[in-house]
Amino acid sequence: MVTTPRITPDLSTNVGALRLAFPTLMASGCYGSGEEYAPFVDLARIGGVVLKSVTRFPRLGNDAPRLVPVASGLLNAIGLQNPGIDAYLERDVAKFAERPCAVVGSVAGFSVDDYGYVTERLAARDEIDAIELNISCPNVAHEGETFACDAALAERATRAARQATTKPLIVKLSPNVTDITEIARAVEAAGGDALAVVNTVRGMAIDVERRAPMLGNVTGGLSGAAMRPIALLAVWEVAAAVRLPIVGQGGIETARDALEFLLAGASAVSIGTANFTDPRAPVAICDGLSTYLNEHGYAALRDLVGAANPTFLGTR
Ligand SMILES: Cc1cc2nc3c(=O)[nH]c(=O)nc-3n(C[C@H](O)[C@H](O)[C@H](O)COP(=O)(O)O)c2cc1C
Repeated sequence: MVTTPRITPDLSTNVGALRLAFPTLMASGCYGSGEEYAPFVDLARIGGVVLKSVTRFPRLGNDAPRLVPVASGLLNAIGLQNPGIDAYLERDVAKFAERPCAVVGSVAGFSVDDYGYVTERLAARDEIDAIELNISCPNVAHEGETFACDAALAERATRAARQATTKPLIVKLSPNVTDITEIARAVEAAGGDALAVVNTVRGMAIDVERRAPMLGNVTGGLSGAAMRPIALLAVWEVAAAVRLPIVGQGGIETARDALEFLLAGASAVSIGTANFTDPRAPVAICDGLSTYLNEHGYAALRDLVGAANPTFLGTR
């Protein structure tokens, strides 16, 4: 019997100018700065870490409870707790220098000016390889309208960040919109290099004994397996609307889940909530991707990007 020799498939991928040895980024807010996971995971075997979102000023975050487990998922309302950009640059950023994987800074803001300012400060640091723009925040100057839910606001926030750095700029879209392709096009027009698709889905839970909402903030964001089909559809639609590379995310737990996003048109994936139950999931996902590529005769992961999506506009 003739057996085909097993080769080591190429799992590397590009998100714009950001080169990743593995297609797995750890999602913002779900992996600390990476060091918390280092005892369990060889960080040289993940693509990179997206850091917790940072804002211009310190934030204490929302009232507890901030996390509520729900069927196949998690509701969170952390409220962007972070020390603010000054303390962050002073205390935290230097320790990212030794990371054996990509380090993506995440910027959040409450005005267009915030996005430009915080991006400029964070991207100026050599330890930061790329910037992800978390635009799922309310604009205080526009009656609290969410940047990610309004094409004009998404465009302005992206443009401000674009003018502040030449490093790869990944803009993170929200699924809480009527037409996500409209927002994706606005970000592309404003000079974003890539899209993270998608942030959490709005949701809530009620404690029937207390007859009150479970989360201190009343509403929160749903993540985990429960949101996966919603996120996958968003990737599919965005991949047909713009040429920008996509980082797919939302409920990815296994190699099979990651494959669905890659086949829909994502060039890489982010893994968030799965890390809370299994810190080794990202490495297992890469092992599973290698097995799949071997079994199906593919030498490189890039060849699979968008392979199930006849409307895929991007490049591999
Ligand atoms: C506890 C928690 C905190 C999060 N914090 C952030 C954040 O600071 N910035 C951000 O852009 N996304 C944040 N997210 C969203 C995740 O990065 C990710 O996009 C989302 O959870 C979907 O992926 P998942 O289902 O794999 O978790 C957070 C999610 C969770 C569960």
